Amino acid sequence: MKVKNICCIGAGYVGSPTMAVVAKQCPYIKITIVDINESRIAAWNSTDLNKLPVFEPGLDGIVKEVRGRNLFFSTNVDKAIDEADMIFISVNTPTKTYGKGKGMAADLKYIELCARQIAKVAKQDKIVVEKSTLPVRTASAIKSILDNTGNGVQFQILSNPEFLAEGTAVQDLLKPDRVLIGGDTSSKEGELAMKALVDIYANWISKERILTTNVWSSELSKLTANAFLAQRVSSINAMSEICEKTGADVKEVSKAIGMDSRIGPKFLNASVGFGGSCFQKDILNLVYIAKSYGLNEVADYWEQVILMNEHQKNRFSDNIVSTLYNTVSGKKITFLGWAFKKDTNDTRESAAIKVADNLLNEQAQVSVYDPKVPEERIYTDLDYLNTRSSDENKSLLTINNDPYKACKDSHAIAILTEWDEFKNYDWKSIYKNMQKPAFVFDGRGLLNKEELKEIGFIYYNIGTGN
Ligand code: UDX
Ligand code: UDX
Ligand code: ADP
Repeated sequence: MKVKNICCIGAGYVGSPTMAVVAKQCPYIKITIVDINESRIAAWNSTDLNKLPVFEPGLDGIVKEVRGRNLFFSTNVDKAIDEADMIFISVNTPTKTYGKGKGMAADLKYIELCARQIAKVAKQDKIVVEKSTLPVRTASAIKSILDNTGNGVQFQILSNPEFLAEGTAVQDLLKPDRVLIGGDTSSKEGELAMKALVDIYANWISKERILTTNVWSSELSKLTANAFLAQRVSSINAMSEICEKTGADVKEVSKAIGMDSRIGPKFLNASVGFGGSCFQKDILNLVYIAKSYGLNEVADYWEQVILMNEHQKNRFSDNIVSTLYNTVSGKKITFLGWAFKKDTNDTRESAAIKVADNLLNEQAQVSVYDPKVPEERIYTDLDYLNTRSSDENKSLLTINNDPYKACKDSHAIAILTEWDEFKNYDWKSIYKNMQKPAFVFDGRGLLNKEELKEIGFIYYNIGTGN
């Protein structure tokens, strides 16, 4: 079977870049991305490409090329489902905030709603593809809903987890290390459905990089990949604290261990802590799954990766407070960066949120500059924590879209995101306009220590003693 019409439910950070690249590489497939969020769809249809809801290098160019050609954004979910041969479910699966598994398990209510809607609308056989990160065995839940509430048509469920990283989404999609497709390997229909999806990717990805597995292996591999990546960050962050005590330099340690080909050089940057929509959520999910099977040692092992990450964020803010003579009350502290990493406007689980919250508890005046994150987003992130009222957050934290103004008169600057532009600032002029002594707390090891010290800054880095 050759797929000619795709529907993708969910126009977020995963669904939209993925479908834009599929549309670019497969001009013969008509793709409609649908979302219940009307303003999001309107923004995707905006003629001003700076208004697209997701910032990703290279994405605007692709959207310009394919939008209206074979990629469409719509709020008409039923129509798109009805017309499609293949439906990607790419909705959000946040950590549950209520009930059983609260704070750990994935909240699958959006997935279930999609499944029910597909079942209601579908009049012909469909292939349903899980794109969102899901706990193992979600496919069987989707299948059960589809088979029991549908109109008697056949559904094949595939798991095709997304491995793109934000900030490099377009490159990751064009040249993935691998594509993983899980399906029902025990039936002919299952094999055919998997082949239909393999054939789409084979338009631009070599067959050796397209792996097919059973559906459970595919679901679990996604959680495992993210757990391993996050573990590397927590491991190097744990070492950064030892480095600060012993006089070792974490960058030198990273380089030395990364040259061992069994370890490899990537994901060994010590930082203020990992963020993003996946790492914490997926590990919590893994921990919850392990506990639900009674595997308590396994659960504790992985949970430690998150506890280490919390510790790293807290010790960053603790160090700011203790260095500023044990009080930051009323002092202006400037954050450069709010996004969870560079080249994205996404802030989900960003370390900046927790660090800001800690400093606001100490009554600091926090001033934030981020090149891509909108003002409302920053306040929403803080309000979501429910630590204090929205009005208090607004009065304690200010946002500035000029970095020099954001830094003016501050006692300290904290680098929270590794945006390249921070390296090229006129640090002499920033220094001149700050309170003295002027401190820089570099949570990303981004700036040149010697240069800043030469200017007069007192400079703290993660993972080096002073
Ligand atoms: C190790 C380090 O590899 C080496 O660089 C250092 O100098 C000394 O310690 P060694 O202990 O000789 O070397 O063997 P290694 O190959 O690392 O294996 C250690 C243990 O891990 C073995 O019991 C091995 O069976 C086990 N192992 C290794 C696994 O169970 N699974 C693996 O994938 C790899
Ligand atoms: C991750 C996975 O990489 C991707 O494959 C999966 O599909 C989704 O989750 P993403 O969350 O977009 O992608 O970003 P990633 O580059 O993995 O970074 C996650 C966090 O770890 C960021 O906050 C980043 O700053 C931090 N990080 C990463 C470090 O602190 N040090 C590193 O060495 C690498
Ligand atoms: P991700 O990072 O996984 O892409 P996002 O939150 O960026 O997550 O995007 C998920 C999108 O899915 C949101 O825009 C949300 O409005 C949309 N969505 C959630 N449930 C449904 C649904 N039942 N039908 C259509 N869209 C949905």
